[in-house]
Amino acid sequence: MSAAADTVKLMKQQVGKAAADRVQSGTIVGLGTGSTTAYAIQFIGERLQSGEIKDIKGIPTSFQAEVLAKQYGIPLITLDEADRIDVAIDGADEVDPNKNLIKGGGAAHTREKVVDSLAAEFIVVVDSSKIVDRLNSTFLLPVEVLPMAMTPVMRAIENLGGKPELRMGVRKAGPVITDEGNFVIDVKFDEIANPAELEKTLNNIPGVLENGLFVGVANVVLIGEIKDGQPVVREM
Ligand code: A5P
Repeated sequence: MSAAADTVKLMKQQVGKAAADRVQSGTIVGLGTGSTTAYAIQFIGERLQSGEIKDIKGIPTSFQAEVLAKQYGIPLITLDEADRIDVAIDGADEVDPNKNLIKGGGAAHTREKVVDSLAAEFIVVVDSSKIVDRLNSTFLLPVEVLPMAMTPVMRAIENLGGKPELRMGVRKAGPVITDEGNFVIDVKFDEIANPAELEKTLNNIPGVLENGLFVGVANVVLIGEIKDGQPVVREM
């Protein structure tokens, strides 16, 4: 692993641990998706196994989160069995100064938005590279679509001024298929002047399930960064 990759890993580990440390006994926890949240899931599992916390129930936001939770011994429930979610911990691809997010780099944003927005407290865990002045400046905006609606949705996005591209698989021929069996269209806009409005406008296109704009959902943003050569975590 290169030195830069090592540094990013350290930041992700620290911020994942900081979020896991906030989980209290007897709570229902939304378990996010991605490489940063994976550390939070690991540390929650370790705290449970050591007896430091008890009686935790997890609600996974993806197949990946479900597999990791089982691996680290976190009991899982579904939304049908939960009367509340106390806290959700999840990563992000971009975070703006208003704590609005772009998510969906792992194509899990639809389930993530359901779980994260239901949580009494939604804690975002990111390394410092995810902090931006304006959303969509470094990361394309993911939009999950029904496969049969791909072409009309792409046209509608172009009419809104976006440049859409179908997300293709890696080490798999053809498009990425989400956990729900759909496609993801990644979009670049020249500028997102009003994220709240665009979030609604995109979701109003027939065939769109959900887009990766998370506006007004995050309560706490924990940022892992390197200071004086050491990984530290600060709250935005
Ligand atoms: C999953 O669809 C995403 O929303 C992730 O939460 C996001 O991509 C962050 O992932 P990393 O922590 O791996 O950067």
